[in-house]
Amino acid sequence: MSVHNENIKKVTARHLSKMKAEGEKIAMTTAYDFSMATLIDGAGIDVILVGDSASNVMAGNGSTLPITVEQMIYHAQCVVRAVKRAHVVVDMPFGSYQISTELGVANAVRIIKESGADSLKIEGGEEYINVIKQIVNAGIPVMGHLGLMPQSINKYGSYAIRAKEDKEAEKLMSDAKLLEEAGCYAIVLEKIPATLAKRVAESVNIPIIGIGAGHEVDGQVLVMQDMLGITQNFSPKFVRKYANIGETITNAMQAYISDVKDSSFPNEDEEY
Ligand code: KIV
Repeated sequence: MSVHNENIKKVTARHLSKMKAEGEKIAMTTAYDFSMATLIDGAGIDVILVGDSASNVMAGNGSTLPITVEQMIYHAQCVVRAVKRAHVVVDMPFGSYQISTELGVANAVRIIKESGADSLKIEGGEEYINVIKQIVNAGIPVMGHLGLMPQSINKYGSYAIRAKEDKEAEKLMSDAKLLEEAGCYAIVLEKIPATLAKRVAESVNIPIIGIGAGHEVDGQVLVMQDMLGITQNFSPKFVRKYANIGETITNAMQAYISDVKDSSFPNEDEEY
């Protein structure tokens, strides 16, 4: 069964805007390594995000703040080696673009040059508009990210829903327009009211990809470990579990351990 447009050989930022124009929804998820990226790309996903959520789900940190440019490049290289069709976008990690425009552009060029990824994602609106413009001017497509921005966790103090109040909602609307004017090719909206996400999607021409932002946007993104049931003890209502891989792994490992302990593995067919 094919669930994607087979005419597209490699998904580009242009394809994504055409998908919005034609009302085709964009499916996006995360990947951080070769094996998973091979499976996800083979399934026909449109966009793979090498998210800085690698800091949580791969490295076991409590936030996205510790992950470095070098670590993001490593994860992106592993994913790029696997992917044939999907658009590969990489998160610029905390500290890589906040210090100065010059350093932001240098890090952006380095991540693209060393990983071979297709584009970058940057959290923030007006505050980072200059660095975003300069990265776009350097020829690198940029995906924006508004709403809950995990790199600003110390400013927010929690991962609760954002932009419920009018003032923050209006700033988000205005930031989305600024990001479009700055040349961003798409924007992720994380954990905001569905009505606001719909307004944003209707007010800009670039694709809006939601995570916890309702269905009236141009696409959806979920962290792969969350949607496949690998992440333990994390089940916000916006995550739909498409598999229970965590349980499958536990059961498989227990069966293996038991077979080793009682000497039923390997059997005669499994030895030389
Ligand atoms: O890093 C990440 O996985 C993300 C998604 C939550 C959109 O930014």
